[in-house]
Amino acid sequence: MQWKSKITGTGSYVPEKVLDNSDLEKKVDTSDEWITERTGIRQRRIARDRQTNSDLCLEASRQALHAAGVKPREIDLIIVATMSGDMPMPSTASILQRKLGAPNAGAFDLNAACSGFLYGLSVADKFIRTGASRKLLLVGAELNSRFLDWKDRTTCVLFGDGAGAVVLEPTRGRSGILSTHLYSDGTLWDFICLPGGGSENPPSLKTVREGMHFIKMKGNETFKVAVRTLEKLVLSTLKANNVEPSELAMLIPHQANLRIISATARRLRLPMDRVAVNLDRYGNTSSASIPIALDEVARAGRLKKGDYVLLEAFGAGLTWASALIKW
Ligand code: UT7
Repeated sequence: MQWKSKITGTGSYVPEKVLDNSDLEKKVDTSDEWITERTGIRQRRIARDRQTNSDLCLEASRQALHAAGVKPREIDLIIVATMSGDMPMPSTASILQRKLGAPNAGAFDLNAACSGFLYGLSVADKFIRTGASRKLLLVGAELNSRFLDWKDRTTCVLFGDGAGAVVLEPTRGRSGILSTHLYSDGTLWDFICLPGGGSENPPSLKTVREGMHFIKMKGNETFKVAVRTLEKLVLSTLKANNVEPSELAMLIPHQANLRIISATARRLRLPMDRVAVNLDRYGNTSSASIPIALDEVARAGRLKKGDYVLLEAFGAGLTWASALIKW
């Protein structure tokens, strides 16, 4: 039997500070009713002033390593999926390596926005399958609150901060990551973007004045593509593995909008008690949403050995991705 990769530990962390919809009613022209009905979000977590992305990574990683029974020194590769790293360079993965005390690891960041964790899972799976890595730490972490325009009601009500982590190791057993699937349509890059601060629009008075360091989103256009794309994606992922929707134990979707999640679940004829939902408490935590949800369902004992678990995400790029896991 060929080598596969297996998740041997999960962890997650969200900052303690809660910002609920009624707090946002005081900041922008919005209402608890609009946010709850249109998105399903009730609260989100916001990092403390001096807390960094790598701090969030560290908390989630320690938990995942503890759950896997792996010491930081044993880790040979660290991948952090993020679009809100501590700084453009060095990578947040290298900063995490120092904080964690994992001197034997290579380290790099990966950016596929909200699909980042599943892109990372796909890369990690390849490293493990080929024997290039034997103990890999993969983190999805975002500090979205630093990149939100708190005057823009169309974006600031949606996002939150948090991190989730997994440890991956090789296995020859039947469980593990069965397949991963990555897609992108760069022609729709401007549906969700943060145009300032990079080499196209380096920081200047003009970029700051024009608010180019904030997340911009064409929400409704993105919504339509997301629903259409994810419905196809979940079915094709199951088909690639000859698994019927009725055999699925759990769907762990990216947490952008409850209406998108419900539409995907309906397409799979999956009852909502087999769908992981946490956006009501954390909002959209981008690349952290899936590993946080995975950690929550794993710790709650909702995953049994041999269960089929489907993960799917959609985000800026546009990018979308999926993975099927036998737990
Ligand atoms: O994670 C990455 C991927 N992201 C996504 O998948 C997000 C996809 N998009 C969405 O989740 C939804 O499109 C949103 C939640 C962002 C917006 O919901 P929508 O039902 O598509 O609303 P809309 O953008 O069509 O706006 C409807 C109305 C507009 O007012 P008018 O023009 O009808 O008068 C908006 O100005 O709602 C207004 N609106 C708000 N009203 C109160 C927009 N944001 C707010 C707000 N509070 N926060």
